Amino acid sequence: MARFNDDPAQMAALRSRLRAWYRQNRRDLPWRRSTDPYAIWVSEIMLQQTRVAVVVDRYQEFMQRFPTLVALALATEQEVLAMWSGLGYYRRARMLHKTAQFVAEHLGGNLPARAEELQALPGIGAYTAAAVASIAHAEPVAVVDGNVERVLCRLAGWDAGSRKGGGAALRRKIEALAARLLDPAHPGDSNQAIMELGATVCAPRGPQCLLCPLQPDCKTRGEHKTPKRAPMTSRIVAYALSVRTGKHRGPGWREVLLQQRPADHSVMPGMWELPSLIRADLSPGQVRMTVRHAIMQVNYYVRIRTVFEDDIDALTVAGGDRLWAPLRDVPGMALTGLARKVLARAHLLPAPPLDTLAPAPESPQ
Ligand code: ADE
Repeated sequence: MARFNDDPAQMAALRSRLRAWYRQNRRDLPWRRSTDPYAIWVSEIMLQQTRVAVVVDRYQEFMQRFPTLVALALATEQEVLAMWSGLGYYRRARMLHKTAQFVAEHLGGNLPARAEELQALPGIGAYTAAAVASIAHAEPVAVVDGNVERVLCRLAGWDAGSRKGGGAALRRKIEALAARLLDPAHPGDSNQAIMELGATVCAPRGPQCLLCPLQPDCKTRGEHKTPKRAPMTSRIVAYALSVRTGKHRGPGWREVLLQQRPADHSVMPGMWELPSLIRADLSPGQVRMTVRHAIMQVNYYVRIRTVFEDDIDALTVAGGDRLWAPLRDVPGMALTGLARKVLARAHLLPAPPLDTLAPAPESPQ
């Protein structure tokens, strides 16, 4: 077969090989067992910027807590953020919630079916609209996310690294190719197949070309420029872990001191975290535990010091509302991912599943 030349016969062959590959290799993911547009919408928002392994568990908990769009709309923002804790990019959760409230209030709780109408809603962009409409309603609209872009650029031999300047023109070429490659008889699977291929075979670094159904036609076959990994930086930060008992509340009652990030903060507004220490240069004896936590391109080396109630004001940075939160209420609070991780390691919260402990690129906002 000739390398990529974009003729209709080649497109048809690519489509059918991609379809066969997806049938054999698709991962069994919980949202793939549903055709409910709301369930698919939630999964697509979670999958933007968060690894599948992390999403799988959080998705199921989220759907149990908010099984319908109306249930989500009726929840408070703090409840939604609590269920989003650890997934990062909390702005996604706020937008999801606000859009659900809009749909509940103005559209009787039903998401529109067509991509064009979905995209007209506040908070739904072109990618999400195409994903939901194609997967839930079989509308033949192509999705273009980062994975699709990479697969198509490699297939066609376009230099994706030179987006600057030619960015809009290249994007149009990618969208046009995605539309030609879409299988109109199975648009949902067709879109998911190409995303899946990008996520599992045509990876950003180290693509497994020998396993790729597009390989015979691919212009580059691994001979493309690999984007450089953005350099990670490191930062040392320190937080106070302060736990008190409440004897008058009965045996076993414990409370932990949490601080709320200001509502107008650009990063994770309104989320609860441990109070931060004025000084991060602790002596080894003062460090109760260290935790590594990655947020975007920053590796945080987090030092945790136990602080007694009487010392808390002297040792921590003032600001934000503080609350002695009963431990039994803490799992339901909108904690930052880091606070959740520290409390779990200190056995003050149920431990998160093992795969979420990897330094997932948690993200702010
Ligand atoms: N990435 C985002 N959504 C996806 C989906 N539905 N299938 C595969 N990869 C995805």
